[in-house]
Amino acid sequence: MKRILVMGVSGTGKTTIGKALANHYQIPFLEGDDFHPRANVDKMSNGIPLQDEDRWPWLKTLANAMNDTQNGYVVSCSALKEAYRQYLKENTDAPFNIIFLEGDAELISSRMQNRKDHYMPESLLQSQFNTLEVPTDAIAVSIDEDVRTITNKIIQILKKKSTIGLLGLGVMGKSLARNLANNKISTLVYNLSFPGEEKVVDTFIDEHGNEFLTGAKSLETFIAGLDSPRQVLLMIKAGDPVDEMIEKLIPLLDKGDTIIDAGNSFYKDTRRRSQYLDNKGLHFVGMGVSGGEEGALKGPAIMPAGSEHSKKALLPELKKIAAVADGIPCVNWVGPDGAGHYVKMIHNGIEYADMQILTEAYAILKRGFNWDNEAIADEMSNWKATIHNSYLLDITINILSKKSGNEYILDTILDVAGHKGTGMWTTLESFEMGVPAPTIVSAMNQRILSSYKDLREELDFGVKDCTINQDMLPNMCKAMSFPRLIALIEGFHLLIKAGEKYAWNLNLQEIAQLWRGGCIIRSDMLLLIREGLKNNPRPEHLLQLPEIREELNEGLAELEKLISAIAHCHLAIPAISNALNYYKSMTTGYLPINLIQAQRDYFGAHTYRTLGDRNKAVHTIWKK
Ligand code: 6PG
Repeated sequence: MKRILVMGVSGTGKTTIGKALANHYQIPFLEGDDFHPRANVDKMSNGIPLQDEDRWPWLKTLANAMNDTQNGYVVSCSALKEAYRQYLKENTDAPFNIIFLEGDAELISSRMQNRKDHYMPESLLQSQFNTLEVPTDAIAVSIDEDVRTITNKIIQILKKKSTIGLLGLGVMGKSLARNLANNKISTLVYNLSFPGEEKVVDTFIDEHGNEFLTGAKSLETFIAGLDSPRQVLLMIKAGDPVDEMIEKLIPLLDKGDTIIDAGNSFYKDTRRRSQYLDNKGLHFVGMGVSGGEEGALKGPAIMPAGSEHSKKALLPELKKIAAVADGIPCVNWVGPDGAGHYVKMIHNGIEYADMQILTEAYAILKRGFNWDNEAIADEMSNWKATIHNSYLLDITINILSKKSGNEYILDTILDVAGHKGTGMWTTLESFEMGVPAPTIVSAMNQRILSSYKDLREELDFGVKDCTINQDMLPNMCKAMSFPRLIALIEGFHLLIKAGEKYAWNLNLQEIAQLWRGGCIIRSDMLLLIREGLKNNPRPEHLLQLPEIREELNEGLAELEKLISAIAHCHLAIPAISNALNYYKSMTTGYLPINLIQAQRDYFGAHTYRTLGDRNKAVHTIWKK
């Protein structure tokens, strides 16, 4: 049943539109002005403006009339003040939709002048605008069109609630909202009106709005405009803002609704939030999204996790907006609670390592080989025909060639790297989980170290470039594939261990596949991993897969050659060397760590176990 209040200042056409709506729905139309008591009518006809106390009896009669209708109603009423609307809400039996006819004074005035039968003095119109308190819980419709179009628009809006509500119109939020709407998923957007951001929704809808993309004026109308059970997608900053937003949403949502957090949240927060919301009868989806602004718009890689209910409701929609690689959408329901954000965190750890490895390759070619940017770009372009083929390689090649005037932009960039935390989480996770990931860790370290720019400059003792004997040059392409693959191997080891620890039942093949497109680490190396996993879907470690061992063997000798060729250079290659050391350590049955155990036992009586009996703790009195 439709109950509608059409409001706006005089001249917005609320009576005409109200009647058209009532006619459409075949329900009674109530003209608000008809319910004024005699005293008010007399005042108005004598040109005496009504005061608030004059309006309460009027609103009371109107509320009674609204309650008296059996099949719903459309009422047209200026209801300019929030207090009047509040009175009607409190004194009517059932909630009603408020349609706010929106238009500026200039537009209304010019429309009125075109209507022969109607004239309103400028001053009266202005006083109405002065009184108007724009409703935050109304469906706002611009009057900048003919009555028929406006009426149809209202009917459409009332008919169709949105499938998904996207909250947070930052760069990623805007792109994802457009992606959803482009795929015909009706999306309602909202952005909290922080100072300076009051017009974000309006501007965005003005630019991109269509039948699938609409905006809400308040959190309440945003929630009210969603299909039940509701799906609210948060595209807001990770951390406290997510908890704060959840608290704002809880009272507005119903049991069975879903909140989706698509930011780079820490997976332990996601696990906590899932539990918290589960206790309140709400679903929570922690969803990793990768691909930057362009990916979000044209097709990201998506890593959602949550309840089976959410999976059923959400996955079909996500498949429509995800990138496609090898004919398969780059999205998979990764598991429950924090699994999606975990997979995204590992993605970012690998991203950090891969970026660092390519950066070290750049350093070797630039400072060791003395090549210019174009030559480096040419060399890297040759790698594209191999397993190196990847997004990060592509953008590196483009960056190398980009000039502003005669200058390479890259050469003008300060050598201090920023980071937002996800790589650090992966690093900390590797220690906490007891999973070695030195290539990833070194990439994090190097970003931190880079921030000591002044100190580095002070300590720089002037050893500049090194020259490498060109005859000693290894095959760079083969050598560099080794550490890049190791970074992935470390990341997958973390996934395997976390999957076991949290009983997430992670499907490694599916993760390799979903990272094949849309995301920052998309590469042909993932194809190799995916194929390798076909014969052994649940390995303890990717180095158990013969396909991967073979590929690493191809690069190993070249990498060793490279490292010895540049050993005398004052050139740091922490990720590349750590990758090699990781590989050598992981593929060595015996590590001389027995000495560390002996030292521990020597000064701390920590005991050690023996090769003969691995379970027995032994202590030695070491001092002679
Ligand atoms: C992605 C990226 C994206 C972003 C991170 C990391 O997958 O689209 O990982 O999430 O790059 O914010 O950025 P920092 O390098 O600043 O930590």
